[in-house]
Amino acid sequence: MNKDHKVLYSGMQATGNLTLGNYLGALKNWVGLADEYECYYGVMDLHSLTVRQNAPEFRAHARELMMLYIAAGIDPEKNVLYLQSSVPCHAELAWILNCFTYMGELQRMTQFKDKAAKHADNVNAGLFTYPVLMAADILLYQSDVVPVGKDQLQHLEITRDIAQRFNSIYGDVFTVPEPYIGKIGARIMSLQDPSKKMSKSDENPNASIYLMDDPDTIRRKCKRAVTDSEATIAYRDEQPGLKNLFDSYCACMDKTPDDVVKEFAGCGYGQVKEAVSEAVIGVLKPLQDRVKELAVDKAYIDNVMKTNAERAYYAANKTLRKVKKKVGLTDIR
Ligand code: TYM
Repeated sequence: MNKDHKVLYSGMQATGNLTLGNYLGALKNWVGLADEYECYYGVMDLHSLTVRQNAPEFRAHARELMMLYIAAGIDPEKNVLYLQSSVPCHAELAWILNCFTYMGELQRMTQFKDKAAKHADNVNAGLFTYPVLMAADILLYQSDVVPVGKDQLQHLEITRDIAQRFNSIYGDVFTVPEPYIGKIGARIMSLQDPSKKMSKSDENPNASIYLMDDPDTIRRKCKRAVTDSEATIAYRDEQPGLKNLFDSYCACMDKTPDDVVKEFAGCGYGQVKEAVSEAVIGVLKPLQDRVKELAVDKAYIDNVMKTNAERAYYAANKTLRKVKKKVGLTDIR
């Protein structure tokens, strides 16, 4: 595949209440990548439909996520930021790829099993084929790298399998992408149960710090975070609650676990929690302020959504046309 630049692709679901995990595991690591890659970031609203949404709130969340991307420092002139549903090629390629994906592969997806258990009253076909739509997102742009948190690695693996299968039948159609995992913050855990990842769908609001939480709420949640009774400062698996607090601190402050263990030597857990909450507030407060500023400028966001969707469509449609030709669909244009 002849390309001037390597292509990078990522995105987040457009569901409300993004967490600190989403920010530290994904969004924060995207900033600055445009110097090295041609970057595409989607607001994954089609994926969010696998769970019931309230239409007006959902539309507002998709817009807010677009603002969060920009607020985090992802420049819509240097990167392509767009709503997944505004580029119809995603749904179209997903259908074609569905026909190249096996039931057994999808049944093995742990996220499907988890979500099916959580939403037992709504185990819809979209939830089952979710990874195929994700594969379509990535493959449409001939992406070389996909920065994600560790929970998405299995979806990346199936994307690679689908791409390789398709290429083995039709020749070199898709670039086979590689995952790109940030060193720190790749897996931020629940504050209430450090064996589970911090998740926006957690029923316990104290388990997650949300990106729009105010400083007092952040302080309260950190204070209540589960630790252990060892009362020693260490960064190790046997103290998962403390380790998770240190991971968040490291990611917010760009420090290493070794630095942090030294910094807090002799301190109590209360002091650690206080420092973690201030570090988190230091990162989230400017982000929140910028979102509020952007929210006022409706025309600017509308314009970003429109022009960036056109840029995304141009790239995506190139691949889609090639795929259609390969599989034998008729091109009447
Ligand atoms: P989503 O919306 O669940 O999560 C967005 C990103 O946040 C990361 N993440 C975390 N990282 C560290 N600790 C956590 N506790 C944590 N929780 C979430 C996720 O790994 C992800 O990188 N399927 C994707 C959305 C998607 C996508 C794509 C991503 C759709 N198409 C194509 C990349 C490429 C998802 O559910 O993300």
